[in-house]
Amino acid sequence: MKVALALLFGAASCAYAAVAPRADNPFADHVIEAGDIKLTFLPYGATLKNLYVKDRWGQTRDIAVGYDDPELYVADTTHTPRFNTQIGRYADRLAYASFTLDGVTYNTTVNGHSKVDPNINVTFHGGIGFDYRNFTVLSHTKKSITMHYFSPDGESGFPGDVNFYVSHTVREPATWEVKMWADFSKRTPFMPTTHLYLQLNAYNASEPSIMNHTLFINSTSYQASDINFFSTAEIVPIPKGAAEDWTTPKQLWEGYFVDQCGVNCTGYDTYFPYLAHTPKQTDTSVWSDASGIRMDISTDQIGTALYTCGELTSGTCPRKAAHGGGYYDQGSCIFFEQQSYVNAINLQGELPDDTIFGPTKPYSSVSTYKFSTV
Ligand SMILES: *[C@@H]1O[C@H](CO)[C@@H](O)[C@H](O)[C@H]1NC(C)=O
Ligand SMILES: *[C@@H]1O[C@H](CO)[C@@H](O)[C@H](O)[C@H]1NC(C)=O
Ligand SMILES: *[C@@H]1O[C@H](CO)[C@@H](O)[C@H](O)[C@H]1NC(C)=O
Ligand SMILES: *[C@@H]1O[C@H](CO)[C@@H](O)[C@H](O)[C@H]1NC(C)=O
Ligand SMILES: *[C@@H]1O[C@H](CO)[C@@H](O)[C@H](O)[C@H]1NC(C)=O
Ligand SMILES: *[C@@H]1O[C@H](CO)[C@@H](O)[C@H](O)[C@H]1NC(C)=O
Ligand SMILES: *[C@@H]1O[C@H](CO)[C@@H](O)[C@H](O)[C@H]1NC(C)=O
Repeated sequence: MKVALALLFGAASCAYAAVAPRADNPFADHVIEAGDIKLTFLPYGATLKNLYVKDRWGQTRDIAVGYDDPELYVADTTHTPRFNTQIGRYADRLAYASFTLDGVTYNTTVNGHSKVDPNINVTFHGGIGFDYRNFTVLSHTKKSITMHYFSPDGESGFPGDVNFYVSHTVREPATWEVKMWADFSKRTPFMPTTHLYLQLNAYNASEPSIMNHTLFINSTSYQASDINFFSTAEIVPIPKGAAEDWTTPKQLWEGYFVDQCGVNCTGYDTYFPYLAHTPKQTDTSVWSDASGIRMDISTDQIGTALYTCGELTSGTCPRKAAHGGGYYDQGSCIFFEQQSYVNAINLQGELPDDTIFGPTKPYSSVSTYKFSTV
């Protein structure tokens, strides 16, 4: 494994030397494209800024929620929407902003609180995580970009040095592949992910809202959470035909009116373990009958988080000009994260994965997002 990682890294370095000059501006657009797909990234947070695909009329649309002004990605470190950023070291809510590993309790950076008790702390997305860091561009070709971030021992309270790499590659037909890998100096919890916020109609005012997006998730269960909205080890079976059952594709409104995002929130902020997770089969699909844009996700990760932007505060996040200006509204986007169980490090021994990596256990993952039209 170590050798394979070193080889990948070596190949990436060669491509860099041969192709592109080192871009030091973390807010400069870094474009990759192949046929009908074009993505732009910022080294700041390894952020996906634009995701251009073709609709059913062959017109190009940017379906990524985000900002035209790259400086707007630099937000305060409380829990604000981190649109399409690279998440690390640890995705989602880490209960009580702490964990115990090998008998030592670690307190991680507090950047949120329980949904019901402001005295109970949470670490969201690794505290001051990878999404707030300037990545180094190691290689950048027409179709691929590889970025690196070195996270030192103790950063945001997590043990061990982490060398983290993310590589984005596009190929025809309209396929985007994300590979992540990392090595570690000590045993440490690790769960990076791509924080994908989309709207498949690109906020075209003449088309129906996200409620008419059709969704398929190959999962028959979800991970429960407690009163604080901390994920537990309880995996709840979903009866066939229940609101949360997405094994038969249906429009979002048909299963939306549930309390799956904590108190006073309608919609989802929910982790669904997949029935299988081989990169060979489609685990999640979403499409819009309005724009005709369809996305199919395949991953080697255990499941997906589904979030329907129920906590996005309307009137605070300015839309891209291509999205009609104004502000992004609550419940106007759909979100996916390919990863392991939420809060898994605090559920060691209770779930079939503990997200612990280390010097003899490097991290790697691959997820593929395929676009087409219906
Ligand atoms: C550290 O975490 C422990 C366990 O959750 C908690 O009891 C303690 O209050 C935390 N300390 C600080 C300073 O946050
Ligand atoms: C939920 O909403 C009700 C009614 O608006 C409010 O009284 C309550 O404080 C809210 N609860 C939380 C935890 O925000
Ligand atoms: C919550 O975090 C703050 C630091 O942000 C700390 O002072 C406080 O003790 C923590 N509370 C608990 C209950 O751990
Ligand atoms: C990222 O780079 C920008 C521009 O060079 C700089 O202002 C900022 O302090 C850097 N951020 C971090 C977290 O290093
Ligand atoms: C918006 O959608 C309509 C069809 O529903 C299409 O004719 C029009 O070109 C779209 N506009 C943009 C900017 O994509
Ligand atoms: C969803 O589509 C139906 C027709 O299939 C339409 O009547 C409805 O207004 C649409 N809903 C939204 C929220 O756009
Ligand atoms: C869901 O996954 C299971 C297990 O791999 C597989 O048998 C089934 O065909 C998948 N369902 C769909 C609709 O792809």
